[in-house]
Amino acid sequence: MPGTLYGIGVGPGDPELLTLKAVKVLKEISHVFAASSSKNDYSLARDIVKSHLAPDIPVDQLAFPMTFDPDHLEDAWRANCEKVVEILQQGKNVAFLTLGDPLTFSTFIYLMRKIRLRLPGVNVTTIPGVTSFQAAAACANVPLAEGEEVITIISGAKGQTRLREAVEFSDNVILMKTYKQFPQILAQIEEAGLKDRCCFISRCGLEGEIVERDFAKMLELQQPNYLSLMIVKKRGIEP
Ligand SMILES: C[S@@+](CC[C@H](N)C(=O)[O-])C[C@H]1O[C@@H](n2cnc3c(N)ncnc32)[C@H](O)[C@@H]1O
Repeated sequence: MPGTLYGIGVGPGDPELLTLKAVKVLKEISHVFAASSSKNDYSLARDIVKSHLAPDIPVDQLAFPMTFDPDHLEDAWRANCEKVVEILQQGKNVAFLTLGDPLTFSTFIYLMRKIRLRLPGVNVTTIPGVTSFQAAAACANVPLAEGEEVITIISGAKGQTRLREAVEFSDNVILMKTYKQFPQILAQIEEAGLKDRCCFISRCGLEGEIVERDFAKMLELQQPNYLSLMIVKKRGIEP
């Protein structure tokens, strides 16, 4: 019998946002995997949980290339999936660490799909985590939604072009990954007349945290950190 695959959400940065359930599983797990960029082997998710892992536990980095080339990505996925399958086939329980929540814009989603194809019937247990936008809203004290309000979450490069349609049918919009296209995103927000109705949050719960409500100051930020997002509220951002 293969072991169980655990997808563990570790929250967006502050180690105190780990769930009790995540800590319990991490203390009992046999093998840990965490995603890292292929440029370096740093994993923030591994850093967040390090104090809960037994000193001798194997922790392997799975490198994912920062590319949109589907063949390159597919090769990386296949190789990473095989590394996890190999351990599961030894009957060991495996944890895959995810920043935030494992089923919200996360590499765990692809990994889980691939492993289920490779090992049909394998046990998968997902442990939810505090998402980045929940933690960001909390650190800015900005309500995400209330009453009958509609909330839309947009991730990735399409954020800037989809903002206009999103604000047509939503009261609140979360824009994730507001780093590479930051100037274009700000231009769209201004064009939509929402420049005094947004809040920028970067590195929430981590060193270098930024919470910015002032649009003029947002314009001064050149290239924000990868761990950045924006909350846009049609009814306005409370001070
Ligand atoms: C691949 S997504 C991961 C989302 C994650 N699974 C979640 O549940 O929030 C990466 C994006 O999450 C957001 N993010 C993650 N951690 C963050 C943090 N500490 N502060 C602000 N944004 C964060 C940023 O928008 C970043 O570009």
